[in-house]
Order: sequence, then C-alpha cells, then structure tokens
Amino acid sequence: MNTDAADALVIGSGIAGLSFALELADHARVVVVTKKDRAESATNYAQGGIAAAIGPEDSIEAHIHDTLEAGAGLCREDVVRTVVREGPAKIERLMEWGAEFTREQERLALGREGGHSRPRIVHREDRTGHEVERALLDALKRHPQVELWENAHAVDLISDRHVNPNTRPRNQRCFGAYVYDIENRIVETLPARITLLASGGMGQVWKNTTNPSIATGDGVAMAWRAGTRLANLEFMQFHPTALYERDRKGRAFLITEAIRGAGGILVNDLGERFMERLHERKELAPRDVVARAIDMQRKMHGVEHVWLDCTHLDPDKLRKQFPTIYRTLRDEHGINLMREPIPVVPAAHYQCGGVISDMHARSTLARLLVAGEVACTGLHGANRLASNSLLEAVVFASRAAGEAKRVLAESNGETLPEIPVWNDFGTYDHEEFVLIRHDLAEIQGLMEDYVGIIRSDLRLQRAARRLAIITQEVENYWRRTTVRSEILELRNMAQVARQIVKCARQRRESRGLHTTTDYPDLDPALGAKDTVI
Ligand code: FAD
Ligand code: SIN
Repeated sequence: MNTDAADALVIGSGIAGLSFALELADHARVVVVTKKDRAESATNYAQGGIAAAIGPEDSIEAHIHDTLEAGAGLCREDVVRTVVREGPAKIERLMEWGAEFTREQERLALGREGGHSRPRIVHREDRTGHEVERALLDALKRHPQVELWENAHAVDLISDRHVNPNTRPRNQRCFGAYVYDIENRIVETLPARITLLASGGMGQVWKNTTNPSIATGDGVAMAWRAGTRLANLEFMQFHPTALYERDRKGRAFLITEAIRGAGGILVNDLGERFMERLHERKELAPRDVVARAIDMQRKMHGVEHVWLDCTHLDPDKLRKQFPTIYRTLRDEHGINLMREPIPVVPAAHYQCGGVISDMHARSTLARLLVAGEVACTGLHGANRLASNSLLEAVVFASRAAGEAKRVLAESNGETLPEIPVWNDFGTYDHEEFVLIRHDLAEIQGLMEDYVGIIRSDLRLQRAARRLAIITQEVENYWRRTTVRSEILELRNMAQVARQIVKCARQRRESRGLHTTTDYPDLDPALGAKDTVI
C-alpha cells in the first residue's frame, strides 16, 4: 500500500464507493480500500434493478408518492424529492460509464416490483448489480488518479481524538482510517483530507440473510466508535422471498421481487393465495406487508416456508427475463421453476437506518461523508421501496463528490496533523477461533429469534441482556488480540447488534419494518420521529 496522504479515502468498492471515486477522479488523488476482492459487494448481487421514473406512463410525482407511502410516514420528503428527481440523470451517467441495461426495441425495458404503482425498474435481466459493478470497475481502470486496494480492511476512522485526546467532541474532524493489510498482516495509517464511508450493510448480523459475507456493519460500528450520530437501526428490511434450504450454508439465494412483478404468486401449504385477502396489490404489496404475511402463514400452519409459484407463466419469457435464477435453481438446487413452485422464506436484506447524513452526504463528524447502504439519508423512512437503494447510492455518491470537491478546494495547501501509528502493544495472536465462531453464531441466532420480523418487549429485553455480555467478552478478547479480519468483524457485529436493539427498544410503536406485539399501532404521540443514537 502507498500510505502517502490521499485527497480522498473511500472505504468500500460497491456502487457508492466506485461512483464517488469516478466523479472525483479528475479532481483529486483517490484511494479506494476494500476488504475482499474488488467486486465483492452487495451491489454485485443486486438482481431486480434501479428505480427511476422514466417510463411513458410514469411521473416523478408518482415515484415520490410510492416512496413516501412505503416509508410509513418517516421519509424526509425533501430527500425523496431530490433523489427521485436526480434519478433519471444518474441512469444516464451509469450508461455513460458503460453499464448496459436490458432494452425492448430501442427503449430501456422497465420491470415491476412491490410497492411501485407502475413499471419503473431499469435492469439487466436478473443480474443488474453485476453489470453495474463490472461497468464501474472497468471505468475506474481508465483513471490513473484512482488506486484501488483489495484485502485492505478498514479498522477505525482517524479523528482529532487520535491526534489530541483533549479535542472537544463537536470539533472533531476525520483524517482517514487505520487499515488492516490482510496479506501483510499489519495495520497501516491511511491519512486523507476527506473520507467517504461506503461500506454497505449489516445483513450478516442475522442468521438468515441475502447479504454477502462482507455485510458485517463495519461502517456503522466505526462511525459509532468515532462518535457520529446513527439513526433508525431498528428498520432492517426482510426480503419476502429468499430461497428456503433446510441446511443452508452461507447467504440465502434471493428470488427477485421482479418475478412477482412478472406474475409469480405466493401460496401456502394448502395452495391458498394468501396475499389476495391482505392487500389490494396482492404479491406486489410493500415488502414489510408481504414479509409479515409470510411470517404469519409459517406460524399459523407450523411450516418453515411458503411457495412462490411461476408454473402458470410463459416458460420462454421466464427463461429470458430471469436466466440467473432459472439456472441457479436448476443446477444448484434441482428446482425447475417452470414446473414446480419454489420454497421461499423472508431473510434480512437491507438496513434502512445507518449513519445520519445530510443532503450533501455529510455525517455529523466533519470531513466524513457517507453514501450507500451505510447511510441514513431519510429516503427510506421506516421501509425502503424496492430498488430505491441503488438509486440512492448513486445519487448521494454524486452529491458526496460535489461536497468533497468543495472541501478539497477550501483546504488546499493545508497540512494534515501528525497521526500516531496503530498501537498494538500488549496484543498477541490467540488463534481462539472457536470463540469467534461461537460468539458469532450466538449473535446471529438471537437476532434472528428476538429481533426478527415480529418483536416484543420481552424478546428485545432478552436480546439486550445477552448482547451486553457478548460485547463485553468480545471487547476483552479484542484488546488482547492481534488484529485479524475475523475478530474485527465479530467486534463490529456485536456492537451494531447492540445498537439495533437499542433503537428497537426506543420505538414503542409498530411502524413500517418495526412490528412489536406490545405496541401494535402507530403512536401519534411519537410524531413519526427518528430513533437517534
Ligand atoms: P456494497 O455494494 O455492499 O459495497 C460495500 C463495500 O464495502 C464492499 O466492497 C465491501 O467489501 C466494502 N467494505 C465493507 N466493510 C469494509 C471495511 N471495514 N474495510 C474496507 N472495505 C469494506 N437494491 C436495489 O436498489 N435493487 C436491487 O435489485 C437490489 N437487489 C439486491 C439483491 C441482493 C441479493 C442484495 C444483498 C441486495 C440488493 N439490493 C438491491 C440492495 C443493494 O444491492 C445495496 O443496498 C447496495 O448495493 C449497497 O451499495 P453500497 O455501495 O452501499 O455497498
Ligand atoms: C429484488 O430484486 O427483489 C431486490 C430488489 C431490492 O432489494 O431493491
């Protein structure tokens, strides 16, 4: 790693980090660090697509309306208006960078997903994220001012308190990050004049998740340790249709909502189409409604999953629109989606809360910007509208790049303070991996059972008690142990799980993705407020 000060340090190589780097590349020296392979990100697995009001029967107002409706009274309307308005131009930008989306004749083909009142999803078959990630990485190769380091795991953000512990909290600024070089097993200091946190989500905190293994909440944990404000972590979105497997290893395979948009229906063990009774949009109701309905079916019928049935749909169209899902189900799971229904369950999918960001992607720590799933911009409120996250990431990455240009111009010529090297005095290599595995399984299991789709005071109280013990044990272990990715991630997951439960206990009402049996209704006295930590 070249550890000379960068103008901008980017943590994460998904859509948010890469598009920010591309926007800034002509103006500054940008370093992108990513903890695994460069393409390994949630972005790379996104299936359905990117929402944008570009169809002939669509309008900006309709997209705004659907986003606000899904968000259950908690969206920031100014943010919704901005993101939706800026969306179509960002689709153009992605295409200029080389992304190729599916077309029907000359026009972009538009898919349909839950909560959307009309077809609106720009996509590349059922592997939109893979195409976006490919295009962004290819475009980045053409920029000599951007360096991308793989296997570079950010440990902690550097701020004034590392330089001068007496700095008052409100005067803190961010000066880059300590980054663990996995191959050489050392923690490097990466100074930067501005830092973008684009480290994605935290689905791995739950046992059943569609998220890849990188989604361990590192960004939220680092930001929290640096003293920035977080909000709305109780709103984990459970995707209604992940493939059910009895002995699954690793992440759950997603069955895109676009399949329901193409006519797929949900049925229970008795063959009943249960969504018909529950919502006028049936299977295309907002995600929180569908996930709760499936959960209810499982409990009522004492079964592990429901079925997604596509057997009545045109086989040629299905194969053409959903080639990845068709092949994966056939080759890896022995399921022919044209002839038999697919067993599906909800799984932790998207974190609506995160590090609080303003309209310019600024966190509450000066010179720390945030974009993508790690950020809480106010777009999603209490429940994200499907396919609004890639859109939000690319809009806010662009706004962050604008802010970075402004800060870099303002601070031109300024020298960074002397930053102390990483202090690992008194630590050694324990190799106690059995402890890590055990603690991890305990966190994921209790989040699944106590902080799932339906919650209660008792469950949250139990989760809080157990997490207090686990975080303390992990912290003691961390203090004695040489840095390794496994312990870093475990520590981050324990800390974010605790913050999630803290947020969930603060929300004494049922709203959007947070449903609790003790407070089954909306609480008007709460006045649709964010839970802020
Ligand atoms: P990511 O793409 O997750 O990238 C995060 C990056 O940060 C990764 O490179 C990771 O390695 C790196 N990183 C993390 N921690 C560290 C660290 N400590 N140090 C260094 N690097 C780190 N949304 C839609 O809008 N439409 C869809 O169709 C859609 N489909 C989805 C399908 C699946 C299976 C999943 C899981 C999500 C889907 N989503 C979809 C959500 C969407 O993909 C994500 O919200 C979005 O891609 C997040 O982008 P990001 O850049 O914020 O993070
Ligand atoms: C999907 O394809 O169903 C996922 C879309 C999303 O998470 O926005």
